[in-house]
Amino acid sequence: MASAVLDEAKRIAAGFEYPPEELNKGVDEFISEMDIGLTSDGAGLSQIPSYITAMPDGTEKVRYLRFRLQERRVDANKIYAKQIETFLREHHSEQFSSHVEKRQSGEVKEAYTEEQVFDLGFTFSFPVTQHGINRGELYRWTKGFDIPEVVGKDICKLLQTAIDELKLPVRVSALVNDTVGTLMARSYSSPGKSKTLIGAIFGTGTNGAYVEKMPRVTKMDKCSSDAYNKSSPVMVINAEWGSFDNALKVLPNTEFDIQLDNETVNPGIQMFEKRISGMFLGEILRLAILSMVENPSVSLFGSPATIDKNSILYQAWAIDSSILSIVEADNSDDLQTTKEQLKTELNVTDVSISDCRAVKVLAHSIGKRAARLGAMALGAIVISSGRLATEDVIDIGVDGSLIEHYPGFEAWIREAFREIRAIGPAGEKKIRIGIAKDGSGVGAALGALVAKKASQTLQG
Ligand code: GLC
Repeated sequence: MASAVLDEAKRIAAGFEYPPEELNKGVDEFISEMDIGLTSDGAGLSQIPSYITAMPDGTEKVRYLRFRLQERRVDANKIYAKQIETFLREHHSEQFSSHVEKRQSGEVKEAYTEEQVFDLGFTFSFPVTQHGINRGELYRWTKGFDIPEVVGKDICKLLQTAIDELKLPVRVSALVNDTVGTLMARSYSSPGKSKTLIGAIFGTGTNGAYVEKMPRVTKMDKCSSDAYNKSSPVMVINAEWGSFDNALKVLPNTEFDIQLDNETVNPGIQMFEKRISGMFLGEILRLAILSMVENPSVSLFGSPATIDKNSILYQAWAIDSSILSIVEADNSDDLQTTKEQLKTELNVTDVSISDCRAVKVLAHSIGKRAARLGAMALGAIVISSGRLATEDVIDIGVDGSLIEHYPGFEAWIREAFREIRAIGPAGEKKIRIGIAKDGSGVGAALGALVAKKASQTLQG
């Protein structure tokens, strides 16, 4: 039985392999979707212009305060505005009491002066079709969010209206995707002169933003907007790569991927993300384990092991992807940590060593595929930039739990880079990957700063 369990785990794991030929095919398709997305709206890769045309180089001086807002409700903006008010009271009490309270009470009628207004840059980790750095409608929800009333609405306007209702001296001056924030933050702090090319997130979701040559962004030609500097050589693009190849032309598709997609609120969308990011890896593992538990010819966790009937193994979305990284890190002979995890997290007791091995084989294959798919997207952007031929260092800023904490994730990305024909071992050496700590936070502040500078230039 022991070997049947391991054999079945290996068979399933083989389905998660993403061999070099597939990887290279994926890269070609990604580059082609990138190009289509730059010429037209509604393409697989949304390629959303961020309206950011200048990158920070570390010489900027920013003093910023950050706080996090997280609400899954339609009236979230009202809550946010109240939180902003509390924040101003706490951190800018002087300014708040001297100007703001008087205005709110009606004692002072004149408008705020420019110096009294706070610029608010905020990170929004969902696709927004932007028409300016602080204008744009939510295109769709991702990562399990589902508040239909907000889709199609201008996110900045909703927040500004709620702020104005409270008469706060705050101007929503920039909305940046978290990947754009990561790119800006990394560019601000990246070592040496090398200009950062990509900001990527491998966390709950996955996505990348990158610096594109302006003449290639032809879908902006018809845009009469004066909201950006048209003579700038570059434009930061939010690729929204989570929706790469929704048609599944080149993406791997196991029975577990299919099951998972059917369980989501947005089947058929974000197909790339559903194979890579932290929100989904735990569920893929759960489905794979469950298939082995329910298969009588292998019966994973069979006697003497026992599975509690309330085990999260039987609950969709209940397994956290951190389990995969803990199991991956367990290199002990007796897989004691894995056994512990199965007991404490999954309520499965007295698990045999071969069952632990089987779980490790599954987790490893799912994590490795995620990293290789991520490499495909990063590699495609690197190739498309043309920088391999002209630069010694190609800098990528990353953020997110997978890239930070998943053992082997970056090494698997690098291995895949070497297997991509247009990169190879020599190209791989040029690519530098660095964590952009708190990319979203400082990135939003830099976004607000860049927006302010740009508007001064446009007016001046
Ligand atoms: C999802 C969102 C995207 C975001 C990413 C990482 O893919 O659609 O906008 O950048 O998650 O948080």
